[in-house]
Amino acid sequence: MIVSCSGAKHIAKKIARKAKLPYQELEIKKFPDSELNVRFPKDIKNKNLVFIQSFYGNVNEKLIETLLAIYTARDLKAKKIFLVSLYFPYFRKDKRFKPGECISIEAISKLFKIVDKLLVVEPHLHRIKKIKDVMPYGRRITIVNDIANYCKNIQNPLFIGPDMESFQWAKHIAKILNKESLILRKTRYSSRKVKIKVPKINLKDRNMILIDDIVSTGHTMLETIKQLKKFKPRKIYCIAIHGLYVEDALKKLSKHSKVISSNTIPSKASKIDISNTIVQEIKNV
Ligand code: R5P
Repeated sequence: MIVSCSGAKHIAKKIARKAKLPYQELEIKKFPDSELNVRFPKDIKNKNLVFIQSFYGNVNEKLIETLLAIYTARDLKAKKIFLVSLYFPYFRKDKRFKPGECISIEAISKLFKIVDKLLVVEPHLHRIKKIKDVMPYGRRITIVNDIANYCKNIQNPLFIGPDMESFQWAKHIAKILNKESLILRKTRYSSRKVKIKVPKINLKDRNMILIDDIVSTGHTMLETIKQLKKFKPRKIYCIAIHGLYVEDALKKLSKHSKVISSNTIPSKASKIDISNTIVQEIKNV
């Protein structure tokens, strides 16, 4: 049975229909003091459950909601418990940058140990190379084929990763389509200040497709666009796997480029539907 959590209502029903599985939506209520209460409207005893959640927006509340639901499912004797996380937070905090700081992803991973399997769509793997290194019960879902499919008709494309981390996707998608890719160099000074360096090569008249796993404030993409415009490209596309688009990022980016993201997070830009990939992964679990 598919169980939709609050961040997956835009896609969970479609996944259940395509997978031909029964469906229910988690009932979530908030007490006046902001504590949460969750409830399964339908019986879950002896059922294999596939929770679907996307941890965007009110991230910390969604974490508590999902944990309450999973622990309750164990208590109510569900058989196996799987969680499909369309977007999983805190992966970028994989290091102690200052003495005394938390390594968030390590702590959060431990809280989810109770599931039988956690399937994460394109986790931000940087210093941690494999999802299993931090979540032994985890599995990565890649959506590079969905993105490649979206890009297949763009003429004379150059796939660009603004930094080392994003290049893993840009390079992979370019390879699927047998096209070229390019890596840029990013220096981050703060959450809202980055600098991008572009190598001196001929980029005139190319369709530039920037690919990043996460677009949050949009500063990485905005700075990249600023630098690339100097090379007079034909058109610039900004593709985000996970389009968080905080602080009006979508509006700012749309002024300078065509912005597209997958529907791991719903928005006006989420044109790449990944439901078929998720259905396939659920079948293979
Ligand atoms: C960081 O390592 C990620 O891959 C993204 O580049 C980053 O999250 C983008 O953030 P922003 O949109 O705020 O520049």
